Amino acid sequence: MKGIILAGGSGTRLYPITEGISKQLMPIYDKPMVFYPISVLMLADIRDILVITTPNDQASFQKLLGDGSQFGVNLSYAVQPQPRGLADAFIVGEEFLNGEACAMVLGDNIFYGNGFTQLLSRARANAEAGYATNFGFRVHDPERFGIMEVDDAGNILSVEEKPAAPKSNFAVTGLYFYPAGISELAKQVKPSDRGEIEISTLNDLYLQAGKLKGELLGGGFCWFDTGTFDSQMDAAVMIRALETNQSRVIACLEQIAFDRGWITREQLVERAELCRKNKYGEFLTKVLEGAK
Ligand code: DAU
Repeated sequence: MKGIILAGGSGTRLYPITEGISKQLMPIYDKPMVFYPISVLMLADIRDILVITTPNDQASFQKLLGDGSQFGVNLSYAVQPQPRGLADAFIVGEEFLNGEACAMVLGDNIFYGNGFTQLLSRARANAEAGYATNFGFRVHDPERFGIMEVDDAGNILSVEEKPAAPKSNFAVTGLYFYPAGISELAKQVKPSDRGEIEISTLNDLYLQAGKLKGELLGGGFCWFDTGTFDSQMDAAVMIRALETNQSRVIACLEQIAFDRGWITREQLVERAELCRKNKYGEFLTKVLEGAK
């Protein structure tokens, strides 16, 4: 199974900051935003990952993430020349996907909660069995998101992009699992009124074919779309509180990789040394000591 991080877009909602830096490279507390979605793919045991950026920002992502070997993953890069819509990721990534099943996470989405790894492995198994999975999260402002309507048994009844009259309060979060053949289907999606190939239209194609499953991220779960000043601040405050409380680092790519045996002790020592002047590095040292 392959993974895609979609980290393009115009970034205009965060001007003037994003005049000089890609949104997904901005910090959320103690690490770059893009670490959070990468950690989601790693927790799903996905190691072949395509990072899609704007042409302008690709070099900065490569500087930060390199080939991914320090995190035990294989990173490839592609550019999306124009923000044509989220479903365009599967067309840009067609060669990389090579017909395989995949998961995609938006580069500005943060997930945190108990039992997440189990949810991910269920979605992965669904994708391998021919089903797409969307993850729903209850929000108070549903007109801002893709919305899924669900019945009492958790079946998805409809998916709509930013509906004027939302049928539920469950936002479709920016994490999607798809079976083999997603690129072909993405090519069938016609641009919406706002001129984008919408992921919600793609999800609706799976729904109409009886191939869309829904997972609701329940109480105690946190999800942030960190595309605004306020949501970035909210996410940073939450990450800081959780990390302080639990004496750990959330979305620590080196730790996830080391726990899974994807990087060596020597690689982890090198990363701990690099970050030695702060709590991130101290945590890596703790991971090393714990493993002695
Ligand atoms: O965050 C969840 C929501 O993400 C979903 O509920 C919606 O169904 C989905 O359409 C999307 O809504 P947004 O309004 O957040 O989409 P936005 O245009 O802001 O794009 C999301 C991210 O993807 C953003 O960080 C920029 C990036 N992007 C966007 C487009 C349209 C790309 O990299 N390429 C693109 O073509």
